[in-house]
Amino acid sequence: MVRPNRINSAVTNGTTSENMIFYRDVVDGLKADMKHLQSKYFYDAMGDRLFQRIMKSSAYYLFNCELEIFSKRTADLASLILQQDGPFDLIELGPGDCTKSGYLLEYLVKANADFTYFPIDISASIIRYIETELPQRIPGIKITSLEGEYDDMLTKAAALSAHRKVILFLGSNLGNMTPKQSLTFSRKIRSHLHTGDLILIGLDLKKDPRIVLAAYNDKEGITRQFNLNLLKRINRELKANFDLSKFEHYPTYDPATGACKSYLVSLEDQVVSLIAGDNLEMISFKKGEPVYMELSHKYTIDEINRMAQQAGFSIAGFFYDSKGWFVDAFWRAM
Ligand SMILES: C[S@@+](CC[C@H](N)C(=O)[O-])C[C@H]1O[C@@H](n2cnc3c(N)ncnc32)[C@H](O)[C@@H]1O
Repeated sequence: MVRPNRINSAVTNGTTSENMIFYRDVVDGLKADMKHLQSKYFYDAMGDRLFQRIMKSSAYYLFNCELEIFSKRTADLASLILQQDGPFDLIELGPGDCTKSGYLLEYLVKANADFTYFPIDISASIIRYIETELPQRIPGIKITSLEGEYDDMLTKAAALSAHRKVILFLGSNLGNMTPKQSLTFSRKIRSHLHTGDLILIGLDLKKDPRIVLAAYNDKEGITRQFNLNLLKRINRELKANFDLSKFEHYPTYDPATGACKSYLVSLEDQVVSLIAGDNLEMISFKKGEPVYMELSHKYTIDEINRMAQQAGFSIAGFFYDSKGWFVDAFWRAM
C-alpha cells in the first residue's frame, strides 16, 4: 500500500490560534447587522456524519444526480483528463468522503494514469478518513492530503510540482459562495493554473423551486440538525451556552436569483455568552431574528458559461444527470 503524505495548514492543526480564529469569526458574524455564521464551520466530526446522512436522504437530489454522472460517465470524464499526455496532479477541493470522485480516481488508477491525488479539506476527520479508507478502496493510489482552507491549501498544492493540474470542485460547493465571490474564487484558481489545465465543477441548476426548497428541508429533519450542530460546536469549543431548543431551521429559495439560503431563527429574546482565553462576549438575539447560516446558489448554463469566460476558462465539456437537474462542467484554462 502507498502511504499517504500529509500537509497541514499553520493554523488548522488544533492550536490555540485556530480556536481564536474560530472565536473571532463567530463573534464578528453574530455582532454584524445581519447575524451570520460561516458555513465552513459546519464540518466537525458530527457535521461530517450529518452531511453523509443528508446525502442519503431522498429529498437531497444533488448527491444522487452527481453520483449518477460519476458512476455512469466515468470513462468519458477520464478521457477528457487523459486527452493530454504526461503526469498530472489531481487536486480536489472539499472532497468529503470521496463517494463520487472515488469512481474517477479508481478508473484513473486502473488505467495506469500517472497522477497524485491532493484532497484539500478543512475537516480533520475527513482528511483522516481519506488517508485510511481510500488506499484500501483504491490500492496503488498516491495521496498527499492537505488539511486546511481552500485558498491556503490550493496555493500550497499548486506549488508542489510542475505537473499539469486537474482540479475537482464537486457537490455544488462553489454554490456556497455568492456569484461575485465565485467569480473571484474561479479567477484565483485560474491564477494557479497553466493554459490547458482543467477544472471540473459540479453545480446545481435552477429548476422547479419546490424541488430545490425540499432538498434543504428534508422531512427527517437532518438538515435542521446539521445547522443546529454548529451551535453545539460553538457551545463545546467556545464555552458558549446556546439553548438549541430556542432556535429553528428556516430555509428559503428565490427562483429569480437562484439563492437558496438557510437561517436559524431565534424563537425568543435571549442572550448567549461565548468565551475564548480571556475574552468573553455576550450576544443578544431578538425573538424572530434570523442568523444566516448558508448559501447554496443555483445557476443556469448561460450563467455558468459567463462565469467560466470571465474567469479565463473555455468550456471543454458538460455532463448532466438524466433529469438535467445538475451539471458537471469541464473548464479549460485559456
Ligand atoms: C458539502 S460537502 C461536499 C463533499 C463532496 N465534494 C461531495 O460533493 O459530496 C463540503 C466539503 O467541503 C469541505 N469544506 C467546506 N468549506 C471548506 C473550506 N473553506 N476549505 C476547505 N474545505 C471546506 C467540508 O469539510 C466538506 O468535506
